[in-house]
Amino acid sequence: MNATSIEPARPASEHLVSLSHHSYLIRSVSGSDELALFDMFARSSPEDLRLRCLGMIKDFPRLAAARLARCDRDREIALVAVDGEGAAPSEIVGVAHLIEEPAEPEFDILVRTDAKGHGVGFQLMKDVLARARERRRTKIVGFIAGEDHAMLLMTSELGFVRETHAEMGTVRVTAMLWFVADDKQQLRPPNGDPNFETRRRTVS
Ligand SMILES: CC(C)(COP(=O)(O)OP(=O)(O)OC[C@H]1O[C@@H](n2cnc3c(N)ncnc32)[C@H](O)[C@@H]1OP(=O)(O)O)[C@@H](O)C(=O)NCCC(=O)NCCS
Repeated sequence: MNATSIEPARPASEHLVSLSHHSYLIRSVSGSDELALFDMFARSSPEDLRLRCLGMIKDFPRLAAARLARCDRDREIALVAVDGEGAAPSEIVGVAHLIEEPAEPEFDILVRTDAKGHGVGFQLMKDVLARARERRRTKIVGFIAGEDHAMLLMTSELGFVRETHAEMGTVRVTAMLWFVADDKQQLRPPNGDPNFETRRRTVS
């Protein structure tokens, strides 16, 4: 019997990606991830934590790990990138999270400082966008520090548009995700968005 025939089937919601010749498992957060999430936050720089939460929150690694591990799966999407193929012991190197507020689902993301620059953040954002579209969300928003050039560039490449949010020195970014079918079953953008074609190519 060869090895692949006894390997347990991977759930459809999980997938492996190869980035910079390294393998990561992208999957939903589970209740048992709290310690690994704490470790990821604790090993990230204070500056990255500040950019993630737009200010310092006391005891952020512990509180954020507990919050994410217990997130409400009906109202939130929380995806992690796991170093390696998910076999224990494994390390979480990034987490992207979307909370589905009634009107405007809002995302946040963090990649562990020493794992940045290999495409993990971009992959997590693409997967969060795909999950949000599966849930038929029409748009998602995010709040990014004005000096967070990496995140501003990445969201722009993913088709988000920017609005200045001067009060907090942050930039609000918005992506349109879902398009309604008209009476001829042609897809059209909600509210006649003129950038529909561009965004459709970019975000898909
Ligand atoms: C912002 C952050 C999430 C980016 O994560 P990352 O894993 O380092 O980013 P990636 O390597 O995936 O992508 C960044 C770069 O690749 C580009 N990129 C990556 N994959 C790509 C792809 N497949 N196609 C096109 N562009 C891609 C990005 O635009 C960017 O360009 P650069 O590296 O040439 O400057 C990370 O720096 C971080 O955690 N920062 C602190 C927290 C934060 O700022 N959060 C945002 C507010 S919630």
